[in-house]
Amino acid sequence: DWSMSAYRAEMIKKIRDQVGTGRVICGLSGGVDSAVAAVLIHEAIGDQLTCVFVDHGLMRLGEAEQVVTLFRDHYNIPLVHVDAEELFLSELAKCGADPEAKRKTIGRLFIDVFDAEAAKLGGADFLAQGTLYPDVIESVSFSGGPSVTIKSHHNVGGLPERMKMKLVEPLRELFKDEVRVLGRELGLPDAFVGRHPFPGPGLAIRCPGEITKEKLDILRKADAIYLDEIRKAGLYDVIWQAFAVLLPVRTVGVMGDHRTYDHVCALRAVTSVDGMTADFYPYDMAFLGRTATRIINEVKGINRVVYDVTSKPPGTIEWE
Ligand code: XMP
Repeated sequence: DWSMSAYRAEMIKKIRDQVGTGRVICGLSGGVDSAVAAVLIHEAIGDQLTCVFVDHGLMRLGEAEQVVTLFRDHYNIPLVHVDAEELFLSELAKCGADPEAKRKTIGRLFIDVFDAEAAKLGGADFLAQGTLYPDVIESVSFSGGPSVTIKSHHNVGGLPERMKMKLVEPLRELFKDEVRVLGRELGLPDAFVGRHPFPGPGLAIRCPGEITKEKLDILRKADAIYLDEIRKAGLYDVIWQAFAVLLPVRTVGVMGDHRTYDHVCALRAVTSVDGMTADFYPYDMAFLGRTATRIINEVKGINRVVYDVTSKPPGTIEWE
């Protein structure tokens, strides 16, 4: 792609000009955006970059290991893997069911953990983030109204003041599909570049209500089965984003000869160009039936599965 290779060269020059001989820290979220930002910046300034992967315990099944392997072993990019699960879960336990409190807590802890890691690394001059264009505009307050944001995207704003670092955000002008083109241009594996977007606050915003490790583990299992079925059906690349949500509602069911009283799992899948608008994906009923049966049979704690048929707007893609 000619225009993307030109963009790549231009961004590399811009990053070098901005950073000079300074040190840069890049937070990896496990998603495509921060990975592409990190690889681009590494290409520009080499080992002046250190990546910090704050593992908040809110990743999907096996995902943390995949990120570490890709960056350390495949790219040889200096990477600090911080296991902060206990800290995040204990602080999230204090948020109750309030979605904004959960997001704000995760954002605050991210900064705290980053601060501590940056200090351990002897400080850095710049903080790199994989902020995209839609993140930027969705976080701008509505004109004329009070300072309301649609959601407090934790990866936008707030960080530089507190950390006294300047921001490096090489993807700020790009939409998701363009980031994927850039990622391929940079040699990231197809399977990684083609991954569905994953939000910074992770599974916390797919687990409405109070967050517990037990619920997260249930959600991880259901989500893995759902994605497995999507891949088997050859639908992964057709769908823009798909995930399971664990509802804080329990309903009555029957398994064999006894009654159950377990959680409801909602499945979400959307098509979209940039995440700003989205349509729910029209699965055939056989797919949904098969997936629901597997989840209920294989995941202890779930006895009912529903499918979300809301488009955006009026719904958002995530449930919180
Ligand atoms: P919504 O739910 O607002 O999501 O329709 C649009 C896209 O943004 C992702 N998303 C986030 N990504 N930090 C992120 O990095 C966040 O706080 C966040 N909230 C939503 C969401 O997964 C979808 O792709």
